[in-house]
Amino acid sequence: MLAALGSLAAAFWTVLRPRTVLLGAVAFLFFADFLKRRRPKNYPPGPPSLPFVGNFFQLDFEKGHLSLQRFVKKYGNLFSLEFGDLPSVIITGLPLIKEVLVHQDQNFVNRPITPIRERVFRKNGLIMSIGQVWKEQRRFALTTLKNFGLGRKSLEERIQEETHFLIQAIGEENGQPFDPHFKINNAVSNIICSITFGERFDYEDDQFQKLLRLLDEVTYLETSMWCQLYNVFPRIMNFLPGPHQMLFRNWEKLKMFVARVIENHKRGWNPAEARDFIDAYLKEIEKHKGSATSSFHKENLIYSTLDLFFAGTETTSTTLRWALLYMALYPEIQEKVQAEIDRVLGQSQQPSTAARESMPYTNAVIHEVQRMGNIIPMNVPREVTVDTTLGGYHLPKRFVNFDNPIEDPALGTSLVTQWLRICLPMQGTWVRALVWEDPTCRGATKPVCHNY
Ligand code: HEM
Repeated sequence: MLAALGSLAAAFWTVLRPRTVLLGAVAFLFFADFLKRRRPKNYPPGPPSLPFVGNFFQLDFEKGHLSLQRFVKKYGNLFSLEFGDLPSVIITGLPLIKEVLVHQDQNFVNRPITPIRERVFRKNGLIMSIGQVWKEQRRFALTTLKNFGLGRKSLEERIQEETHFLIQAIGEENGQPFDPHFKINNAVSNIICSITFGERFDYEDDQFQKLLRLLDEVTYLETSMWCQLYNVFPRIMNFLPGPHQMLFRNWEKLKMFVARVIENHKRGWNPAEARDFIDAYLKEIEKHKGSATSSFHKENLIYSTLDLFFAGTETTSTTLRWALLYMALYPEIQEKVQAEIDRVLGQSQQPSTAARESMPYTNAVIHEVQRMGNIIPMNVPREVTVDTTLGGYHLPKRFVNFDNPIEDPALGTSLVTQWLRICLPMQGTWVRALVWEDPTCRGATKPVCHNY
């Protein structure tokens, strides 16, 4: 029987020839890819995609948010894209984003695990974990950060103290041009460092400056085309040199830094007196010792701490750099902000959350900087967890990216002037209403008026 099968295969092989087999295999791969890419009924529209790579090469990763605007104009506020074989929908515009994040949040609660994130974070930590692990880590982080001052006065005092150091460092430049990038990063990072590591780092600390540069580099590298290619073809890219390999090396160095800080903490650890986030986490590990299902272990301590360090540093410092740039580009707005600061705080008083109430113009400028700066243009992706209907379309399990509605016609595009434009119809008065709450001020039931 075996001999008969063998001679049959040999006969086939002589008839088919290797070239035919190869052609058949390629045709099969194309067909399988076509089947995989078939769009379900009533799926959001999107640009036609190529086999294997999808819409990958239609996106400019250096200017991701601008490439998306092209598609928004053509397909509307909800459209589909294929990143290689990762099916994705992009959602933009305030009403749809609100629908997803507020009304249907349970259907979009998970994070998709991309190959890069899988390799670096292995579903650990705060940002890239899911399910029970995410719930436990998030609950613990929120409570602990609150205990160490987030939302309390003590955090405000830490910020005020750090502001003092930053102003001093800027003063040392004697009015000469300088690059504020890493001074700002250092100052912002010190706030979260003082809560997580229990210490701040001097702006002249070379080791810490190196870490800040690593953090900055990972943020930049992760959005590069090479790293996105890794997400699409991880098996091939694994063997190729390139910026993605540098990304992995940088993450390793950052992990090692956090692991070293944790080891140092263990030496001086007193369970009765938690000095910071790491101490509190070590206590939590002790509490769950022996439980096979607990997510409180050393790995998650490293990743959660790293998440706070990363998210607490890059986001706020990039926003502040945008603020500086906009102040330089819009001197007339800078003047008004300065006038309000002088009027409310004067030259000696520190800024505080209590003063925010009396500084509506500066508050509006900060919100505009956040909107226009658009520092996370595609958000941190979420995933559709169950079949969902959104905007009249059917969304099966898929990646979801939110595009910042920076070009939403309802919001306009020019700094602060659009706030004034919106509020002018209200007899030249300034109406306090957060852009995110109500972009057109229509719902502002309690207008607080300030004349400008
Ligand atoms: C301008 C400042 C900031 C911006 C623009 C920003 C933006 C974001 C965005 C867009 C997300 C994803 C939200 C989602 O999918 O629901 C996120 C999540 C997160 N951010 Fe921030 N962030 C900022 C500051 C911070 C700071 C200071 C910290 C640290 C204390 C932080 C820690 C986190 C964490 C831990 C998550 C993950 C939360 C979760 O998945 O449950 N962020 N941030």
